[in-house]
Amino acid sequence: MGTLLRATAVASAAAIGYAVVVERNWFALRRYEVPVLPPGAQPLRILHISDSHLTPDRKRLMSWIKSLDDLDPDLVVNTGDAIAHPQSVGYLLDALGPLLDRPGVFVFGANDLYAPTPVNPLRYALAPSNRWHRRNEPNLPWEKLRDGMVAAGWLDLNNQRGKLTIAGVDVALAGVDDPHIRRDRYDHVAGLADPGADVRIAVMHSPEPRVLDLFTADGYDLLLAGHTHGGQLCLPWYGTLVTNCGLERRRARGLHRHPADGQAWLHVSAGLGTSPFAPARFACRPEASLLTLTARDPG
Ligand SMILES: [Fe+2]
Repeated sequence: MGTLLRATAVASAAAIGYAVVVERNWFALRRYEVPVLPPGAQPLRILHISDSHLTPDRKRLMSWIKSLDDLDPDLVVNTGDAIAHPQSVGYLLDALGPLLDRPGVFVFGANDLYAPTPVNPLRYALAPSNRWHRRNEPNLPWEKLRDGMVAAGWLDLNNQRGKLTIAGVDVALAGVDDPHIRRDRYDHVAGLADPGADVRIAVMHSPEPRVLDLFTADGYDLLLAGHTHGGQLCLPWYGTLVTNCGLERRRARGLHRHPADGQAWLHVSAGLGTSPFAPARFACRPEASLLTLTARDPG
């Protein structure tokens, strides 16, 4: 019995060490093709980043983000939870570096506004985090974060629509502020997505089904979100345990349809980071995604 207990303790310590030291810094680039452009259109590359939860000590994460410029994306989409510390904005903008010179759009997640607090991980299992999110004034420098990205030319899509022409492709855009803490104001962006655009893209932090359904009904072709961290601590061969939102486990990360049997595409990023108070990932590597939009089949 003593031997079994010792073996269990050693295995647990090894798993925790792996999750905290190895996997949390083992960044993955996911690649997907999404056939949403008109027949004959040239491909358009979107770099989707999310949930970096950056703190000034995360040098490896910063240098990996910087290296993503080598992918030569046509558009960068940031779906929020970028910072986790009052001093992080400068570090984040520096890590984005040359990516800021490219077309970009962003929305906020709750963690861009509210500094993280210590949590008991079991609370995630018991109830979504919005149930216990503090309702006081934002205490992170979200205006500085917004101003830095806007100054670089990125579009603020928090409860706003936008339009970009990239490499000859007309892109209609809309986004909402974080639905997880009910900062979304869909009435600000409601209405049919521009049918004359080549592609219609909707952006949000938390992939709450009520918002995904609204964007889909308004004709958006591709929905981009983060927030779930893919479950962050997953079980091998089983996958995500919790999504921390209304989305089901099966679509907690990666490229799927929305509705699950519908026409629109939904990409949920498992994110680049973790809360500094839960610095571990297991069977769910931190990631960025390169989505190559391609032409639909004619007919
Ligand atoms: Fe997050």
